[in-house]
Amino acid sequence: MSTNAVITLDALPPTTHTKPISSQKWSSHFAFVMAAVGSAVGLGNIWKFPYMTGTSGGGAFVLVYLACVAMIGLPILIAEVTIGRAGGASPMGALRNLAAKYRASRHWQIVGLVGALTALLVLSFYSVVAGWALAYVPVAATGKLAGISGAASETIFNTILADPVGQIGWHTAFMATTVLIVSRGIGGGIERAVTWLMPMLAVLLVLLVAYAAAQGAFLDGAAFLFAPDFSALGTEAVLSAAGHAFFTLSVGLGAMIAYGGYLPEGVSIPRTAITIAALDTLCALAAGLAIFPLVFAHGLDPAGGPGLVFVTLPVAFGGMPGGDLFGALFFILLGIAAVTSAVALLEPIVATMVERGFRRSSCATMLGLLCWAIGLASVFSFNVWSDVRIAGDERTIFDWLNLLTSDILLPLGGIAIALFVGWAMPLRALGGEIDLGPRWLRAWRALVRYIAPAAVAMVLVSALMGAAA
Ligand code: TRP
Repeated sequence: MSTNAVITLDALPPTTHTKPISSQKWSSHFAFVMAAVGSAVGLGNIWKFPYMTGTSGGGAFVLVYLACVAMIGLPILIAEVTIGRAGGASPMGALRNLAAKYRASRHWQIVGLVGALTALLVLSFYSVVAGWALAYVPVAATGKLAGISGAASETIFNTILADPVGQIGWHTAFMATTVLIVSRGIGGGIERAVTWLMPMLAVLLVLLVAYAAAQGAFLDGAAFLFAPDFSALGTEAVLSAAGHAFFTLSVGLGAMIAYGGYLPEGVSIPRTAITIAALDTLCALAAGLAIFPLVFAHGLDPAGGPGLVFVTLPVAFGGMPGGDLFGALFFILLGIAAVTSAVALLEPIVATMVERGFRRSSCATMLGLLCWAIGLASVFSFNVWSDVRIAGDERTIFDWLNLLTSDILLPLGGIAIALFVGWAMPLRALGGEIDLGPRWLRAWRALVRYIAPAAVAMVLVSALMGAAA
Protein backbone atom coordinates (compact mmCIF):
# COMPACT_ATOMS: atom_id res chain seq x y z
CA MET A 1 0.00 0.00 0.00
CA SER A 2 1.30 3.41 -0.89
CA THR A 3 2.15 5.73 1.93
CA ASN A 4 2.85 8.55 -0.42
CA ALA A 5 0.76 11.53 0.59
CA VAL A 6 1.06 13.10 -2.85
CA ILE A 7 -1.76 11.63 -4.82
CA THR A 8 -1.14 11.28 -8.51
CA LEU A 9 -3.48 9.22 -10.59
CA ASP A 10 -0.73 7.02 -11.98
CA ALA A 11 0.49 6.14 -8.54
CA LEU A 12 -2.89 4.76 -7.58
CA PRO A 13 -3.06 1.05 -6.98
CA PRO A 14 -4.71 -1.02 -9.70
CA THR A 15 -8.43 -1.35 -9.53
CA THR A 16 -8.72 -4.10 -7.01
CA HIS A 17 -12.14 -4.09 -5.45
CA THR A 18 -10.85 -3.95 -1.92
CA LYS A 19 -13.14 -2.98 0.92
CA PRO A 20 -10.64 -1.84 3.48
CA ILE A 21 -12.78 0.49 5.51
CA SER A 22 -16.11 -1.11 4.96
CA SER A 23 -15.23 -4.00 7.16
CA GLN A 24 -16.85 -1.74 9.73
CA LYS A 25 -20.60 -1.54 9.42
CA TRP A 26 -23.29 0.30 11.25
CA SER A 27 -24.67 -1.99 13.92
CA SER A 28 -28.21 -1.67 12.61
CA HIS A 29 -30.40 0.09 10.09
CA PHE A 30 -31.58 2.37 12.88
CA ALA A 31 -27.99 3.27 13.70
CA PHE A 32 -27.31 4.25 10.11
CA VAL A 33 -30.44 6.35 9.90
CA MET A 34 -29.52 8.08 13.14
CA ALA A 35 -25.96 8.74 12.02
CA ALA A 36 -27.14 10.06 8.67
CA VAL A 37 -29.80 12.20 10.33
CA GLY A 38 -27.12 13.32 12.77
CA SER A 39 -24.99 14.47 9.88
CA ALA A 40 -27.87 16.17 8.11
CA VAL A 41 -29.39 17.91 11.12
CA GLY A 42 -26.98 20.43 12.46
CA LEU A 43 -26.13 24.09 12.29
CA GLY A 44 -27.49 24.08 8.76
CA ASN A 45 -31.00 23.65 10.10
CA ILE A 46 -30.94 25.77 13.20
CA TRP A 47 -28.37 28.44 12.38
CA LYS A 48 -28.12 28.70 8.63
CA PHE A 49 -31.62 28.03 7.34
CA PRO A 50 -33.29 30.72 9.45
CA TYR A 51 -30.74 33.40 8.72
CA MET A 52 -30.69 32.66 4.98
CA THR A 53 -34.47 32.77 4.92
CA GLY A 54 -34.17 36.14 6.62
CA THR A 55 -31.63 37.61 4.24
CA SER A 56 -33.30 36.08 1.15
CA GLY A 57 -36.74 37.49 1.81
CA GLY A 58 -38.74 34.70 3.46
CA GLY A 59 -41.46 32.47 2.02
CA ALA A 60 -40.40 32.41 -1.62
CA PHE A 61 -36.93 31.29 -0.58
CA VAL A 62 -38.44 28.58 1.64
CA LEU A 63 -40.56 27.25 -1.22
CA VAL A 64 -37.62 27.08 -3.61
CA TYR A 65 -35.56 25.42 -0.89
CA LEU A 66 -38.26 22.77 -0.30
CA ALA A 67 -38.50 22.12 -4.04
CA CYS A 68 -34.71 21.78 -4.26
CA VAL A 69 -34.61 19.34 -1.35
CA ALA A 70 -37.26 17.13 -2.95
CA MET A 71 -36.23 17.29 -6.60
CA ILE A 72 -32.45 17.67 -6.37
CA GLY A 73 -31.16 16.99 -2.87
CA LEU A 74 -33.08 13.79 -2.25
CA PRO A 75 -32.22 12.12 -5.59
CA ILE A 76 -28.56 13.02 -5.07
CA LEU A 77 -28.67 11.72 -1.51
CA ILE A 78 -29.89 8.40 -2.92
CA ALA A 79 -27.09 8.57 -5.49
CA GLU A 80 -24.39 9.16 -2.87
CA VAL A 81 -25.49 6.36 -0.55
CA THR A 82 -25.73 4.03 -3.56
CA ILE A 83 -22.21 4.89 -4.71
CA GLY A 84 -20.97 4.29 -1.18
CA ARG A 85 -22.58 0.93 -0.71
CA ALA A 86 -21.90 -0.34 -4.23
CA GLY A 87 -18.34 0.98 -4.25
CA GLY A 88 -17.60 -0.16 -0.73
CA ALA A 89 -14.83 2.29 0.09
CA SER A 90 -14.00 5.91 0.81
CA PRO A 91 -15.61 8.41 -1.59
CA MET A 92 -12.51 8.45 -3.75
CA GLY A 93 -12.08 4.67 -3.57
CA ALA A 94 -15.74 3.98 -4.22
CA LEU A 95 -15.74 6.12 -7.35
CA ARG A 96 -12.50 4.47 -8.48
CA ASN A 97 -13.89 0.96 -7.92
CA LEU A 98 -17.15 1.66 -9.70
CA ALA A 99 -15.51 3.51 -12.59
CA ALA A 100 -13.24 0.51 -13.12
CA LYS A 101 -16.07 -1.96 -12.84
CA TYR A 102 -18.21 -0.14 -15.39
CA ARG A 103 -15.33 0.95 -17.63
CA ALA A 104 -15.73 4.65 -17.03
CA SER A 105 -12.89 7.14 -16.80
CA ARG A 106 -10.78 6.75 -13.70
CA HIS A 107 -10.78 10.53 -13.39
CA TRP A 108 -14.15 10.25 -11.66
CA GLN A 109 -12.27 9.64 -8.46
CA ILE A 110 -11.14 13.28 -8.50
CA VAL A 111 -14.73 14.13 -7.56
CA GLY A 112 -14.18 12.19 -4.35
CA LEU A 113 -10.93 13.95 -3.60
CA VAL A 114 -12.24 17.46 -4.29
CA GLY A 115 -15.30 16.69 -2.18
CA ALA A 116 -13.20 15.51 0.74
CA LEU A 117 -11.17 18.72 0.57
CA THR A 118 -14.33 20.80 0.34
CA ALA A 119 -15.49 19.11 3.52
CA LEU A 120 -12.38 20.39 5.29
CA LEU A 121 -13.24 23.94 4.29
CA VAL A 122 -16.81 23.53 5.52
CA LEU A 123 -15.61 22.05 8.78
CA SER A 124 -13.22 24.95 9.35
CA PHE A 125 -16.02 27.52 9.72
CA TYR A 126 -18.61 25.04 10.97
CA SER A 127 -16.47 24.51 14.04
CA VAL A 128 -16.29 28.24 14.71
CA VAL A 129 -20.07 28.61 14.60
CA ALA A 130 -20.49 25.53 16.80
CA GLY A 131 -18.11 27.31 19.17
CA TRP A 132 -20.59 30.20 19.42
CA ALA A 133 -23.23 27.73 20.57
CA LEU A 134 -20.89 26.37 23.22
CA ALA A 135 -20.01 29.89 24.33
CA TYR A 136 -23.69 30.42 25.17
CA VAL A 137 -23.84 27.46 27.55
CA PRO A 138 -22.20 29.26 30.50
CA VAL A 139 -23.92 32.52 29.58
CA ALA A 140 -27.33 30.84 29.85
CA ALA A 141 -26.47 28.69 32.85
CA THR A 142 -25.37 31.65 34.94
CA GLY A 143 -28.66 33.46 34.43
CA LYS A 144 -27.30 36.24 32.20
CA LEU A 145 -30.21 35.85 29.78
CA ALA A 146 -32.97 36.44 32.35
CA GLY A 147 -35.43 39.02 31.08
CA ILE A 148 -33.10 40.14 28.33
CA SER A 149 -34.23 42.50 25.53
CA GLY A 150 -33.47 42.10 21.85
CA ALA A 151 -30.89 44.86 21.98
CA ALA A 152 -29.16 43.46 25.06
CA SER A 153 -29.05 40.07 23.39
CA GLU A 154 -27.32 41.62 20.39
CA THR A 155 -24.73 43.10 22.70
CA ILE A 156 -23.97 39.70 24.26
CA PHE A 157 -23.50 38.14 20.83
CA ASN A 158 -21.30 40.98 19.60
CA THR A 159 -19.15 40.62 22.71
CA ILE A 160 -18.59 36.95 21.91
CA LEU A 161 -17.66 37.81 18.31
CA ALA A 162 -15.31 40.58 19.35
CA ASP A 163 -13.23 38.24 21.50
CA PRO A 164 -10.86 36.14 19.36
CA VAL A 165 -9.32 34.33 22.30
CA GLY A 166 -12.61 33.08 23.70
CA GLN A 167 -13.79 32.00 20.26
CA ILE A 168 -10.55 30.15 19.60
CA GLY A 169 -11.00 28.33 22.89
CA TRP A 170 -14.48 27.05 21.96
CA HIS A 171 -13.39 26.33 18.39
CA THR A 172 -10.51 24.26 19.76
CA ALA A 173 -12.75 22.35 22.16
CA PHE A 174 -15.21 21.57 19.38
CA MET A 175 -12.57 20.47 16.88
CA ALA A 176 -10.83 18.31 19.49
CA THR A 177 -14.11 16.52 20.25
CA THR A 178 -14.68 15.89 16.56
CA VAL A 179 -11.17 14.50 16.11
CA LEU A 180 -11.56 12.25 19.13
CA ILE A 181 -14.78 10.71 17.84
CA VAL A 182 -13.46 10.20 14.31
CA SER A 183 -10.27 8.65 15.72
CA ARG A 184 -12.32 5.98 17.43
CA GLY A 185 -14.07 5.10 14.21
CA ILE A 186 -17.64 4.75 13.18
CA GLY A 187 -20.03 3.07 15.54
CA GLY A 188 -18.84 3.58 19.06
CA GLY A 189 -19.31 7.23 19.85
CA ILE A 190 -21.44 8.49 17.00
CA GLU A 191 -24.18 5.91 17.23
CA ARG A 192 -24.67 6.36 20.92
CA ALA A 193 -24.64 10.13 20.79
CA VAL A 194 -27.18 10.45 18.01
CA THR A 195 -29.69 7.89 19.20
CA TRP A 196 -30.23 9.68 22.51
CA LEU A 197 -29.40 13.26 21.95
CA MET A 198 -31.04 14.10 18.63
CA PRO A 199 -34.52 13.23 19.94
CA MET A 200 -33.84 15.46 22.94
CA LEU A 201 -32.95 18.33 20.65
CA ALA A 202 -36.19 17.77 18.75
CA VAL A 203 -38.19 17.99 21.98
CA LEU A 204 -36.52 21.26 22.91
CA LEU A 205 -37.21 22.66 19.45
CA VAL A 206 -40.89 21.86 19.82
CA LEU A 207 -40.85 23.57 23.20
CA LEU A 208 -39.32 26.66 21.61
CA VAL A 209 -41.95 26.72 18.87
CA ALA A 210 -44.62 26.55 21.58
CA TYR A 211 -42.98 29.45 23.38
CA ALA A 212 -42.80 31.47 20.17
CA ALA A 213 -46.47 30.71 19.55
CA ALA A 214 -47.43 31.91 23.02
CA GLN A 215 -45.13 34.90 23.41
CA GLY A 216 -44.03 35.97 19.96
CA ALA A 217 -45.67 37.53 16.96
CA PHE A 218 -46.47 34.03 15.73
CA LEU A 219 -48.63 34.96 12.77
CA ASP A 220 -46.11 37.47 11.48
CA GLY A 221 -43.36 34.90 11.85
CA ALA A 222 -45.32 32.15 10.14
CA ALA A 223 -46.37 34.51 7.35
CA PHE A 224 -42.77 35.52 6.79
CA LEU A 225 -41.79 31.86 6.56
CA PHE A 226 -44.69 30.57 4.49
CA ALA A 227 -46.22 33.41 2.48
CA PRO A 228 -44.12 33.60 -0.69
CA ASP A 229 -43.37 36.93 -2.30
CA PHE A 230 -41.66 35.94 -5.52
CA SER A 231 -40.90 39.51 -6.49
CA ALA A 232 -38.26 39.50 -3.75
CA LEU A 233 -36.54 36.43 -5.15
CA GLY A 234 -33.47 37.01 -7.35
CA THR A 235 -31.28 34.40 -9.06
CA GLU A 236 -28.76 34.65 -6.25
CA ALA A 237 -31.44 33.69 -3.73
CA VAL A 238 -32.40 30.73 -5.93
CA LEU A 239 -28.77 29.62 -5.99
CA SER A 240 -28.58 29.99 -2.21
CA ALA A 241 -31.71 27.86 -1.85
CA ALA A 242 -30.25 25.17 -4.11
CA GLY A 243 -26.89 25.34 -2.37
CA HIS A 244 -28.54 25.12 1.01
CA ALA A 245 -30.49 22.04 -0.08
CA PHE A 246 -27.11 20.37 -0.63
CA PHE A 247 -25.67 21.72 2.59
CA THR A 248 -28.53 20.70 4.80
CA LEU A 249 -28.72 17.12 3.45
CA SER A 250 -24.92 16.80 3.68
CA VAL A 251 -24.65 16.00 -0.01
CA GLY A 252 -22.34 17.26 -2.73
CA LEU A 253 -19.03 16.42 -1.11
CA GLY A 254 -19.15 12.67 -0.68
CA ALA A 255 -19.94 12.44 3.03
CA MET A 256 -22.92 10.25 2.31
CA ILE A 257 -20.74 8.10 0.04
CA ALA A 258 -18.51 7.51 3.05
CA TYR A 259 -21.47 6.73 5.32
CA GLY A 260 -23.10 4.59 2.63
CA GLY A 261 -19.90 2.55 2.56
CA TYR A 262 -20.74 1.32 6.05
CA LEU A 263 -24.35 0.53 5.19
CA PRO A 264 -25.34 -3.14 5.45
CA GLU A 265 -26.93 -4.87 2.48
CA GLY A 266 -30.66 -5.26 2.74
CA VAL A 267 -31.33 -1.75 4.03
CA SER A 268 -33.62 0.19 1.69
CA ILE A 269 -31.70 3.17 0.37
CA PRO A 270 -34.67 5.20 -0.94
CA ARG A 271 -36.69 4.71 2.22
CA THR A 272 -33.75 5.69 4.37
CA ALA A 273 -33.05 8.75 2.23
CA ILE A 274 -36.65 9.91 2.46
CA THR A 275 -36.57 9.55 6.25
CA ILE A 276 -33.39 11.60 6.43
CA ALA A 277 -34.73 14.36 4.19
CA ALA A 278 -38.07 14.50 6.01
CA LEU A 279 -36.57 14.73 9.50
CA ASP A 280 -34.05 17.28 8.31
CA THR A 281 -36.73 19.48 6.76
CA LEU A 282 -38.92 19.27 9.85
CA CYS A 283 -36.07 20.46 12.04
CA ALA A 284 -35.35 23.41 9.76
CA LEU A 285 -38.97 24.51 9.64
CA ALA A 286 -39.31 24.13 13.40
CA ALA A 287 -36.25 26.33 13.88
CA GLY A 288 -37.80 28.94 11.60
CA LEU A 289 -41.08 28.82 13.52
CA ALA A 290 -39.24 29.22 16.79
CA ILE A 291 -37.17 32.16 15.62
CA PHE A 292 -39.18 34.47 13.35
CA PRO A 293 -42.08 35.12 15.74
CA LEU A 294 -39.48 36.36 18.23
CA VAL A 295 -37.72 38.43 15.59
CA PHE A 296 -40.94 40.33 14.89
CA ALA A 297 -42.08 40.54 18.49
CA HIS A 298 -38.79 42.05 19.62
CA GLY A 299 -38.18 44.37 16.72
CA LEU A 300 -35.12 42.50 15.50
CA ASP A 301 -34.03 42.50 11.88
CA PRO A 302 -34.94 39.27 10.02
CA ALA A 303 -32.09 40.00 7.63
CA GLY A 304 -29.63 40.22 10.51
CA GLY A 305 -27.39 37.51 9.06
CA PRO A 306 -25.33 34.81 10.75
CA GLY A 307 -26.06 36.10 14.25
CA LEU A 308 -29.84 35.71 13.94
CA VAL A 309 -30.32 32.50 15.96
CA PHE A 310 -27.82 33.51 18.58
CA VAL A 311 -29.59 36.80 19.17
CA THR A 312 -33.22 35.66 19.07
CA LEU A 313 -33.28 32.42 21.02
CA PRO A 314 -31.59 33.90 24.11
CA VAL A 315 -34.49 36.37 24.22
CA ALA A 316 -36.86 33.39 24.34
CA PHE A 317 -34.90 31.65 27.07
CA GLY A 318 -34.64 34.87 29.03
CA GLY A 319 -38.40 35.21 29.05
CA MET A 320 -39.39 31.68 30.02
CA PRO A 321 -39.52 30.09 33.46
CA GLY A 322 -36.56 27.77 33.89
CA GLY A 323 -34.89 29.54 30.98
CA ASP A 324 -31.40 29.27 32.49
CA LEU A 325 -31.64 25.52 32.44
CA PHE A 326 -33.43 25.19 29.10
CA GLY A 327 -31.11 27.67 27.48
CA ALA A 328 -27.99 25.89 28.65
CA LEU A 329 -29.45 22.55 27.65
CA PHE A 330 -30.45 23.83 24.22
CA PHE A 331 -27.00 25.14 23.40
CA ILE A 332 -25.39 21.92 24.62
CA LEU A 333 -27.70 19.94 22.35
CA LEU A 334 -27.00 22.30 19.46
CA GLY A 335 -23.30 21.67 20.02
CA ILE A 336 -23.98 17.94 19.92
CA ALA A 337 -26.05 18.25 16.75
CA ALA A 338 -23.09 20.10 15.28
CA VAL A 339 -20.61 17.42 16.38
CA THR A 340 -22.61 14.66 14.72
CA SER A 341 -22.39 16.70 11.51
CA ALA A 342 -18.74 17.58 11.97
CA VAL A 343 -17.66 13.95 12.23
CA ALA A 344 -19.31 13.34 8.87
CA LEU A 345 -17.29 16.21 7.43
CA LEU A 346 -13.98 14.83 8.67
CA GLU A 347 -14.77 11.22 7.80
CA PRO A 348 -14.48 11.34 3.97
CA ILE A 349 -10.88 12.54 3.92
CA VAL A 350 -9.90 10.36 6.87
CA ALA A 351 -11.44 7.32 5.16
CA THR A 352 -9.47 8.15 2.02
CA MET A 353 -6.21 8.28 3.95
CA VAL A 354 -6.94 5.17 6.00
CA GLU A 355 -7.47 3.32 2.75
CA ARG A 356 -3.96 4.35 1.76
CA GLY A 357 -2.49 2.74 4.83
CA PHE A 358 -2.37 5.63 7.29
CA ARG A 359 -3.47 5.23 10.87
CA ARG A 360 -6.97 6.49 11.53
CA SER A 361 -6.06 8.42 14.65
CA SER A 362 -3.04 10.11 13.05
CA CYS A 363 -5.05 11.21 10.02
CA ALA A 364 -7.90 12.50 12.14
CA THR A 365 -5.49 14.49 14.29
CA MET A 366 -3.45 15.98 11.46
CA LEU A 367 -6.45 16.88 9.34
CA GLY A 368 -8.32 18.22 12.34
CA LEU A 369 -5.34 20.43 13.09
CA LEU A 370 -5.31 21.69 9.52
CA CYS A 371 -9.03 22.49 9.71
CA TRP A 372 -8.54 24.18 13.03
CA ALA A 373 -5.86 26.42 11.53
CA ILE A 374 -8.04 27.36 8.56
CA GLY A 375 -10.83 28.05 11.04
CA LEU A 376 -8.77 30.80 12.64
CA ALA A 377 -9.40 32.90 9.54
CA SER A 378 -13.13 32.65 10.26
CA VAL A 379 -12.62 33.62 13.90
CA PHE A 380 -10.59 36.66 12.88
CA SER A 381 -13.23 37.66 10.31
CA PHE A 382 -15.30 38.94 13.23
CA ASN A 383 -12.61 40.91 15.00
CA VAL A 384 -8.97 41.52 14.05
CA TRP A 385 -9.57 40.88 10.34
CA SER A 386 -13.08 42.26 10.17
CA ASP A 387 -11.93 44.89 7.66
CA VAL A 388 -10.24 42.42 5.35
CA ARG A 389 -12.09 42.05 2.06
CA ILE A 390 -11.27 39.50 -0.61
CA ALA A 391 -13.35 41.03 -3.36
CA GLY A 392 -14.68 44.53 -3.72
CA ASP A 393 -17.81 43.82 -1.72
CA GLU A 394 -18.98 43.60 1.85
CA ARG A 395 -18.07 39.95 2.36
CA THR A 396 -15.55 38.90 4.99
CA ILE A 397 -13.33 35.82 4.79
CA PHE A 398 -15.96 33.90 6.76
CA ASP A 399 -18.65 34.97 4.29
CA TRP A 400 -16.51 33.82 1.40
CA LEU A 401 -15.77 30.39 2.86
CA ASN A 402 -19.46 29.94 3.53
CA LEU A 403 -20.46 31.10 0.05
CA LEU A 404 -17.74 29.31 -1.90
CA THR A 405 -18.54 25.94 -0.32
CA SER A 406 -22.30 26.08 -0.14
CA ASP A 407 -23.14 28.01 -3.29
CA ILE A 408 -20.40 26.75 -5.60
CA LEU A 409 -18.47 23.65 -4.51
CA LEU A 410 -21.42 21.63 -3.17
CA PRO A 411 -23.59 22.24 -6.25
CA LEU A 412 -20.64 21.36 -8.53
CA GLY A 413 -19.99 18.18 -6.54
CA GLY A 414 -23.68 17.35 -6.68
CA ILE A 415 -23.74 17.73 -10.46
CA ALA A 416 -20.74 15.41 -10.79
CA ILE A 417 -22.24 12.77 -8.51
CA ALA A 418 -25.57 12.89 -10.33
CA LEU A 419 -23.82 12.54 -13.69
CA PHE A 420 -21.78 9.61 -12.42
CA VAL A 421 -24.74 7.49 -11.34
CA GLY A 422 -26.84 8.77 -14.25
CA TRP A 423 -24.36 8.03 -17.02
CA ALA A 424 -21.47 5.89 -15.82
CA MET A 425 -23.45 3.25 -13.92
CA PRO A 426 -25.75 0.88 -15.80
CA LEU A 427 -29.40 0.84 -14.83
CA ARG A 428 -29.19 -2.80 -13.84
CA ALA A 429 -26.47 -2.14 -11.31
CA LEU A 430 -28.49 0.73 -9.88
CA GLY A 431 -31.58 -1.46 -9.66
CA GLY A 432 -29.58 -3.94 -7.63
CA GLU A 433 -28.91 -1.34 -4.93
CA ILE A 434 -32.03 0.78 -5.09
CA ASP A 435 -35.22 -1.08 -4.29
CA LEU A 436 -37.63 1.03 -6.31
CA GLY A 437 -40.05 -0.42 -8.84
CA PRO A 438 -38.90 -0.10 -12.47
CA ARG A 439 -41.00 3.04 -13.03
CA TRP A 440 -39.71 4.91 -10.03
CA LEU A 441 -36.19 3.77 -10.74
CA ARG A 442 -36.39 5.28 -14.22
CA ALA A 443 -37.94 8.45 -12.88
CA TRP A 444 -35.11 8.76 -10.36
CA ARG A 445 -32.57 8.13 -13.08
CA ALA A 446 -34.09 10.81 -15.27
CA LEU A 447 -33.70 13.18 -12.34
CA VAL A 448 -30.03 12.42 -11.79
CA ARG A 449 -29.24 12.06 -15.49
CA TYR A 450 -30.80 15.22 -16.85
CA ILE A 451 -32.98 17.27 -14.59
CA ALA A 452 -30.88 17.79 -11.47
CA PRO A 453 -27.58 18.47 -13.28
CA ALA A 454 -29.21 20.78 -15.82
CA ALA A 455 -31.20 22.69 -13.21
CA VAL A 456 -28.26 23.15 -10.88
CA ALA A 457 -25.95 24.13 -13.74
CA MET A 458 -28.43 26.70 -15.00
CA VAL A 459 -28.93 28.25 -11.61
CA LEU A 460 -25.20 28.29 -10.96
CA VAL A 461 -24.31 29.90 -14.27
CA SER A 462 -27.06 32.51 -14.17
CA ALA A 463 -26.30 33.49 -10.58
CA LEU A 464 -22.57 33.74 -11.24
CA MET A 465 -23.17 35.79 -14.38
CA GLY A 466 -25.51 38.03 -12.44
CA ALA A 467 -22.91 38.45 -9.68
CA ALA A 468 -20.16 39.23 -12.19
CA ALA A 469 -22.26 41.74 -14.07
N1 TRP B 1 -25.78 19.06 6.95
C1 TRP B 1 -25.03 19.75 7.94
C2 TRP B 1 -25.93 20.75 8.61
O1 TRP B 1 -26.98 21.04 8.11
C3 TRP B 1 -23.80 20.43 7.42
C4 TRP B 1 -23.07 19.73 6.34
C5 TRP B 1 -22.90 20.15 5.09
C6 TRP B 1 -22.51 18.48 6.37
N2 TRP B 1 -22.23 19.24 4.35
C7 TRP B 1 -21.99 18.20 5.11
C8 TRP B 1 -22.40 17.57 7.37
C9 TRP B 1 -21.37 17.02 4.85
C10 TRP B 1 -21.80 16.38 7.09
C11 TRP B 1 -21.28 16.11 5.85
O2 TRP B 1 -25.58 21.29 9.61
